[in-house]
Amino acid sequence: MAGRYPPQWLDELRQRADIVSVIGSYVQLKKNGHRYSGLCPFHNETAPSFSVDSQKQFYYCFGCKASGSVIQFVMDIEHLSFPEAVEHLAEQLHLPLPEMQNDPAYEKRRSLKERIYLANKAAARLYHQYLWQKEGEEILQYLKKRGLSDGVIRRFGIGAAPPRPDIGKKLMEDGFTKEELLSAGLMMERDGRSFDMFRNRAMFPIIDAYGNVLGFGGRAMGDAMPKYLNTSDTPAFNKRYNVFAANLLRKARGLERVILVEGYMDVVALSQYGVEGVAATLGTALTPEQARLLSRYAPEVHIAYDGDKAGQKAILRGLEVLEAANVPVKVLDFPGGLDPDEFIRQEGVEAFHALKPISGVYYRMLREKEKHDMSTEEGRTAYAKACADFLKNVREPVDLENYLKRLSLESGFDREVLLQQIGAAPAKPSPALPKQESFRQKAKKVAQVDWTGRTLLAVLATGKLPPGSVTPEDFDDPVLKSLCKDLLSGESPASLMEQQPDEQGRSAIGDILSVNTDMDDDGLMHMARDCLKKMRRTRLENELETLQKSMASLPQEEQVRSMQRALELTRLISEQK
Ligand code: GTP
Ligand code: MN
Repeated sequence: MAGRYPPQWLDELRQRADIVSVIGSYVQLKKNGHRYSGLCPFHNETAPSFSVDSQKQFYYCFGCKASGSVIQFVMDIEHLSFPEAVEHLAEQLHLPLPEMQNDPAYEKRRSLKERIYLANKAAARLYHQYLWQKEGEEILQYLKKRGLSDGVIRRFGIGAAPPRPDIGKKLMEDGFTKEELLSAGLMMERDGRSFDMFRNRAMFPIIDAYGNVLGFGGRAMGDAMPKYLNTSDTPAFNKRYNVFAANLLRKARGLERVILVEGYMDVVALSQYGVEGVAATLGTALTPEQARLLSRYAPEVHIAYDGDKAGQKAILRGLEVLEAANVPVKVLDFPGGLDPDEFIRQEGVEAFHALKPISGVYYRMLREKEKHDMSTEEGRTAYAKACADFLKNVREPVDLENYLKRLSLESGFDREVLLQQIGAAPAKPSPALPKQESFRQKAKKVAQVDWTGRTLLAVLATGKLPPGSVTPEDFDDPVLKSLCKDLLSGESPASLMEQQPDEQGRSAIGDILSVNTDMDDDGLMHMARDCLKKMRRTRLENELETLQKSMASLPQEEQVRSMQRALELTRLISEQK
């Protein structure tokens, strides 16, 4: 999994990323020796069982067993893939990606990107200031007329590009070059002269989850065209990969769903009424990348597009995209062709919450039904055929049953006939996987029987023991033995966790290495020596016990030899005490 990046580079990343400060920005941690503890962000709890080991650079939850390196933490909390998490950390630490090191073109792109972020942030500030000044008067009035409160204007950092703006000039006075402003899409050039891109528009900054201002959406006053002018794609902004209000999505913790709307105004209006976790695409159709981005913030997405014809078509497309990305999705269907902004302002927030999200299949059935004249046999037949097509994809038998009942009622066909039309018996549950003892189960056994071995490994993992003090042969258990080999070959606990194929493997290592090793070097040495002694004694005792059990059934001469060995073992055992 980690193959793409050189191990030394990953080590440097992990060291620089310091797990305590990274996790500390998500979880309140309390220091206790080398360990920090806090409430686990991966399960609900009231007493802290989540611990971060600053020495071994991994985290481990005694409650839910979540565990891993700093990279794993970022993957899980931000719902990123391994390379995405690595790149995210590297970017924050300004650590060039390995393949990019010493690549001047990359350096240039990267620094241009950072300049664009800075220019955009400065521009957003200027636009926002204008809104409260004479130059932005008309635009503020427009926003007020649309019902926006001062609070929500501030929350979204909405601003005003005046009719005769001079943002470009101001930013150049602040040290940005014209080239940078052109690249940022804040200025444009025509006939050798440069102008501000946005004029006489309400400005919606598009901010990513990490607070970077990627670009802007500019709403025209009244009926001026185009209604929205969006920053075109730049080295710092790609509409495919971003959504509007990602910054607020990230702040909202524990969302049960993300609501996906079409318009910036819809996001703002819902937020003003206290609805959290709302985002919008950036004036283009939903992409698979956006679907994945949204799925990071909640287990399910509710599409809440406009109720008009265009919105309905976009919902059907959105369903396809989200389903293809395996993101659970439902639809909020607004009556009367309203959009979410209009709906919540007309009907109120209670009515909004009272809307029942409907499944993708049911939504398709509703739309399909409108296409047919249900008072005729042809109409009902065509409707049943079309619905049978959607129902092929329903995996849960109980869901299928519900749809069948409804369809049977609407179309007049028997359930059995409809099933035949669907062309399959009710979906079967997927065959159970053959039972295999997982790494975790194995390790659990180890943990139970071999506390001493575990402790020794944990001490070894601190890296504080002199070379040669512990060898793989000291361990009888294959899991502990192989972990010992890996640690001795210079692998850090964090990187070992990353190499595990799954969470169970990571928890197993977390479990083993979570033994408290908070003591000075002398203490660690003592602890190791005690463990080794105890392990040797246990081994001798086991041998003696087996020997004694088998003694009686042995032939005479072997009995003598065994007797001698037993005496020797007894002597060795007493020496270990
Ligand atoms: P209001 O009419 O102000 O309520 O805007 P809205 O947010 O409801 O927008 P609407 O539903 O008309 O459009 C949804 C989204 O599509 C907008 O937020 C824009 O991102 C995008 N969009 C709308 N009109 C245009 C346009 O003329 N050009 C571009 N590029 N995008 C547009
Ligand atoms: Mn609207």
